[in-house]
Amino acid sequence: MRLLVRNARIALPSGELYHGDLFAEGGRIAAIDRDIGRDADTVIEAGGHVLMPGVMDPQVHFREPGNEHKEDLSSGSRAAAKGGVTSFLEMPNTNPPTTSPAALTDKLARADEKSVVNYGFFIGATPNNLDHLLAAEAACGIKIFMGAGTGNLLVDQEEDLDRIFAHGRKLIAVHAEDEARIRERRAQFMENCDPADHSRIRDEQSALMATARAVRLAKKYQRRLHVLHLSTAIETAFLRREKTPYISCEAIPNHLFLTTDAYATMGPLAQMNPPIRSEHDRQALWEGLRSGVIDCIATDHAPHLLTEKALGYPRAPSGMPGVETSLPLMLTAMRDGQCSLAELQRWMCYNPARLYGVANKGRIAIGWDADLTLVDMTREKPVRNEEMFTRVGWSPFHGRVLTGWPISTIVGGRVVFDKGEVLPNVHGQSLHYVASTPMPAVS
Ligand code: DOR
Repeated sequence: MRLLVRNARIALPSGELYHGDLFAEGGRIAAIDRDIGRDADTVIEAGGHVLMPGVMDPQVHFREPGNEHKEDLSSGSRAAAKGGVTSFLEMPNTNPPTTSPAALTDKLARADEKSVVNYGFFIGATPNNLDHLLAAEAACGIKIFMGAGTGNLLVDQEEDLDRIFAHGRKLIAVHAEDEARIRERRAQFMENCDPADHSRIRDEQSALMATARAVRLAKKYQRRLHVLHLSTAIETAFLRREKTPYISCEAIPNHLFLTTDAYATMGPLAQMNPPIRSEHDRQALWEGLRSGVIDCIATDHAPHLLTEKALGYPRAPSGMPGVETSLPLMLTAMRDGQCSLAELQRWMCYNPARLYGVANKGRIAIGWDADLTLVDMTREKPVRNEEMFTRVGWSPFHGRVLTGWPISTIVGGRVVFDKGEVLPNVHGQSLHYVASTPMPAVS
């Protein structure tokens, strides 16, 4: 497979745009030059648009097996391709949950058949599956729900958490909300049915308590820790002080672009865990990203049906879809001066790969994987529920006008998404993890 992209503005890791051609062979970037006159199986006329590394989304929930009516590995990966996302890491709270090597093997086989972009999977921790966690070689990491959410995965007792942190070397990713505090606070809000109470029940302290507990255990055992979807200013300040080279964290667009004001217009559509927060928290997350405290961006793509969301608070399930809107949202923020192209690539492409030990992904350079997305930086259009590829058919950003949309997505040197459609017979690859600690940054 030889691919030639002609007349592109190629995004270099520095954020500089190089006007020229890119040639990929055998899935790798082989040349970046002016007027590459080589034969290729596929030629893309880029028309001066920006060619950037494909996004890696390190936190999605694709619902297969068990809830394929909401999403499966086909629909979820297609939504990813449309959004310029060329690799994803998927969470274990499916049904049955991914809590054993056998369940992991099953998911990998399903993805091999159905996923149009590259894929990796977490194994979920339970209070008593340590043997499985230690045997799950093929997992990108161990997921611990320290607070309960969608599904029945929960580990919140000190001795269970301690045992998991103490044994093994694989990355541990935590959903950090303190279950005991949430239960106590929920009891106080019992009579109330206001979706805004969701953010009061699962308050900032609940998030900080669990994050602090995970950091304490990671330090006790020098264990590789990734704190998922940071949502508060106090956690950001805490991690600014407490982070070590083996601790990393992420933010998600829901917390970077929405605040508790959204409950007034969206009601339970805006309900998620950890909840949306104040403008102060939102600003702190942006500052955390810019200063390097927060390492990367994921989406926590968590599709639920509109009919389920219509059940009202507190019966509606928590979570919002997001895999196909994260890049347009961030490109719009970049246009508005919130970040540079170098930062965007670092947060969305390079750092997710580096933090999970995936080699050769997330930057455009010779020898690196040809996972790419061609982006029209000036295309301005609203997000529309009707246009979503996710099976649930809605977006929390419906109606928001965004500037900067993917035109084509390329995985391993093959075009998988182009002009609004996923191409036939395209497949992603299973990701491999070469390092259990963050790989050193390449300058
Ligand atoms: O709101 C959420 N929904 N947060 C999570 O972490 C899980 C997710 C889901 O799977 O629905």
